[in-house]
Amino acid sequence: MTQDELKKAVGWAALKYVQSGSVVGVGTGSTAAHFIDALATMKHQIEGAVSSSEASTLKLKAHGIQVFDLNEIDTLSIYVDGADEINPQMQMIKGGGAALTREKIVAAVAEKFICIADASKEIDVLGRFPLPVEVIPMARAYVARELVKLGGLPEYRQHVVTDNGNLILDVHNLRILDPIALEKSINALPGVVTVGLFAARGADIALIGTPDGVKTIEK
Ligand code: 5RP
Repeated sequence: MTQDELKKAVGWAALKYVQSGSVVGVGTGSTAAHFIDALATMKHQIEGAVSSSEASTLKLKAHGIQVFDLNEIDTLSIYVDGADEINPQMQMIKGGGAALTREKIVAAVAEKFICIADASKEIDVLGRFPLPVEVIPMARAYVARELVKLGGLPEYRQHVVTDNGNLILDVHNLRILDPIALEKSINALPGVVTVGLFAARGADIALIGTPDGVKTIEK
């Protein structure tokens, strides 16, 4: 099976967590795109979706799924999204698609975070995938110097502006042994909007696509 077929399998497997009549939190990326295609088959049974990016909003709308502003919504039962890495504690690195801030906000509102990922995303220690950090443009160089002090090698993601008008630094050379502590310390740097470590609030359920089928891990 190709990696995209594994992503498609988990995207469709997540449908079983969608409750009829609900508003669904929807993530960003190629795996989440498969989930959106699957969700479209249930579009008459759900009220709509809250989206974590302009790209997902466009795709949801193209399928005729109503997209709500998060401010109109009090509760979301689920948030379904991919990941760049996930460890056995269900902590994740996200932001490969530069949507980390909105993803973290929508995930915070949801009762359950359902991570959908192909097996290549499973890892024991987070950090092989460069850790994305969204920064206010004027703080880029300062935050980069602070990230070096934390042991990382930040690289400015060229030609990328986030949906919020900010920049991304991708931090290489990290072996993240205490993800909750690192999430806190990077988030505390002035100029950082969000770090793509989803550790304090990780996934509740992971659907992992393997050549033998979809593996479900529950916290
Ligand atoms: C976007 C993300 C994505 O979930 C992550 O990059 C995984 O993407 P894909 O499903 O395309 O492999 O965090 O900001």
